[in-house]
Amino acid sequence: MKTIIEPFRIKSVEPLRLTTPDERKAYLAAAHYNLFALDSDAVLIDLLTDSGTSAMSARQWAAIMVGDESYAGSPSFHRFEEAVRNLMPFRHVIPTHQGRAAEAILFHLIGGPGRKVPSNTHFDTTRGNIEATGAEAIDFPAPEGLDPATPHPFKGNVDLKRLETFLKEHGLAVPCVMITVTNNAGGGQPASLENIRAAAALAHRFGKPFIVDGCRFAENAWFIREREPEQAGRAIVDIVRDMFADADGMTMSAKKDAFANIGGWLALNDDALAERARTRLIQTEGFPTYGGLAGRDLEAIAQGLSEIVDEHYLAYRARTNAYIGERLVALGVPIVQPTGGHAVFIDARAWLRHIPPLQYPGQALACALYEVGGIRACEIGTVMFGRQRDGSEKPAAMDLVRLAMPRRVYTQSHADYIVETFAEIAAAPERLKGYRIVSEPPALRHFTAKFEPLMH
Ligand SMILES: Cc1ncc(COP(=O)(O)O)c(C=O)c1O
Repeated sequence: MKTIIEPFRIKSVEPLRLTTPDERKAYLAAAHYNLFALDSDAVLIDLLTDSGTSAMSARQWAAIMVGDESYAGSPSFHRFEEAVRNLMPFRHVIPTHQGRAAEAILFHLIGGPGRKVPSNTHFDTTRGNIEATGAEAIDFPAPEGLDPATPHPFKGNVDLKRLETFLKEHGLAVPCVMITVTNNAGGGQPASLENIRAAAALAHRFGKPFIVDGCRFAENAWFIREREPEQAGRAIVDIVRDMFADADGMTMSAKKDAFANIGGWLALNDDALAERARTRLIQTEGFPTYGGLAGRDLEAIAQGLSEIVDEHYLAYRARTNAYIGERLVALGVPIVQPTGGHAVFIDARAWLRHIPPLQYPGQALACALYEVGGIRACEIGTVMFGRQRDGSEKPAAMDLVRLAMPRRVYTQSHADYIVETFAEIAAAPERLKGYRIVSEPPALRHFTAKFEPLMH
């Protein structure tokens, strides 16, 4: 086959509002150059996040109609539980309204002052929930994951050597070992099955439960199939089952690889821990057969899980990012190599060398993408991570811009349009100017900070 096409046709459409560059300039100024402050109907192509933005299938919408909204014992819960356990056979599946709610429950129970939780790279809500209990979240990404330009196949791996040394030194303080697949904070890069299994074995050698943050499990399984020679050609469902076979639990945001607009779960094998988690769930989310969701959401997730493991969908998904990435490279735009499962990451610091990190090259590029093309992307760099706990500011490790792809939402001509927008910027990238922050909140400043463009 020559072209990997979108493996679906469109039954229901949402119109996009086309705006002029002058209108966008005005919207951007009114939003104080913070793209989170834009109204989404002023955005043409919204690549802010792949979370909760998926297009649901006709079967998911149909499943929503049979959702049973009983407080207790809903058959929708049983369909949800069965769909999860078909892929990840944990003894206990506890629904939550989002991934972060599953994290909050887990770390409320096993976190606490003095505890240390290692991972390949914690996502920021995971880190936030660990730290909120007084525990420490520690990242051990594989060294090749830290170099944006190297096209290593499994940049999401955990660094097993550092993990082992850490467990030897701090084992008593460790309540569990985690891995995030794919590694969102590290560029949507996958971990190999070999690495996942080795990390689980290491955790178990030290008597620690192994917990998978499985938000993008299907994208990770696809990359395992494509890039890990021993796994070539295997069925995606079998790879998924193997990814979770050695784990003792998982946290999940169904807003990613379950095609749902809301939802999540915590799954565990430990009966006593699951019992405590359900008690906490009742306090914070709801009864264990709905856990902060409507019955119809549970149905949408159950159906979504049967669709996400379709290899034609996953081939198209990975190809969309690779297609955009290849064209950006041809334009001379530096990207994180290889393109990730859910996003293309631009190395704004490497591209816009005339803008120093403390003038936010990622923010400059994100604003230019909106102004030139109406595209909303997300800065992942010094704006997001630069403010230190002691109040000082320093450059983040990288200044990236993430083009996160909503699932099944945009077509190839949207992808071409994204590339054209970059081509327009690439004609004279030196025209982009840095920014300064004029006001910011005490924490998580990227969401609400106000910016001003620098004139020189
Ligand atoms: C790897 C990872 N873990 C956890 C979460 C949190 O999930 P939610 O947004 O459903 O709370 C996210 C969301 O972006 C994520 O990417």
